[in-house]
Amino acid sequence: MSKTEDSDEKRIWPKDYTPSQEPTVDSNFRNAILNSILTSKIADEQVNTDLFYVMSTRRSTRKFSPRPVEQWKIDKILASADTAPTAGNFQGFEIFYVKDPKVKEKLVLAANNQPYVNTPVVLVFCSNPERVKLNFPQEILAKFSIQDATLAAAYSQLTASALGLSSIWIGLIDEEKVKEAIGTNLRPSSLLCIGYPSQKRGPKSRRNLKDLIHVV
Ligand SMILES: Cc1cc2nc3c(=O)[nH]c(=O)nc-3n(C[C@H](O)[C@H](O)[C@H](O)COP(=O)(O)O)c2cc1C
Repeated sequence: MSKTEDSDEKRIWPKDYTPSQEPTVDSNFRNAILNSILTSKIADEQVNTDLFYVMSTRRSTRKFSPRPVEQWKIDKILASADTAPTAGNFQGFEIFYVKDPKVKEKLVLAANNQPYVNTPVVLVFCSNPERVKLNFPQEILAKFSIQDATLAAAYSQLTASALGLSSIWIGLIDEEKVKEAIGTNLRPSSLLCIGYPSQKRGPKSRRNLKDLIHVV
């Protein structure tokens, strides 16, 4: 199947988003596109994708440059979310990739008027407990799917940093307004607003390990 094929039935990517990467192998097509995106050569020599370097240097940003984010970076950010562990591997979450500027404006309002929500790439992570086909009470499935959505967003956030981008995680949201803005009944867990930072900052301090880690 060519990636330009646009039949709704055969297309494995959503309308208005086509990854720039072709799958490299034919077998197991679903994972092939994912692997192909994740392992494609990094076309930016400025970035250092060593996991521990990324973790130790990641910083939130609230001032972004208007510089657009390259499509291949967006592809990797989205694909990373799909590698996160999920309860029972049921992938109890959905990603809303917000491209419409009017929807971004609504999200600013839904996030208590935090202006930096309007970044070049805005992703809304929502839980989808109906996907979690485990025989547990509803509140457990709700908890699992919120954890699924949260982890997925964290994977995308780290990837954004690995690619020389920065982001702000937005948890202060009016959930009903977010639902209305993106047109869903699913519960949003967070917004991840991504772009190039207008300035680079050093890591924030954390508490001492002795206060964090409780040996029992
Ligand atoms: C659950 C959660 C909710 C957050 N909500 C917001 C938010 O609504 N607005 C905001 O500006 N930052 C928000 N942040 C970002 C934190 O303020 C930021 O991660 C923290 O200060 C640590 O800074 P660092 O990410 O640069 O290490 C949130 C982070 C998390 C994990």
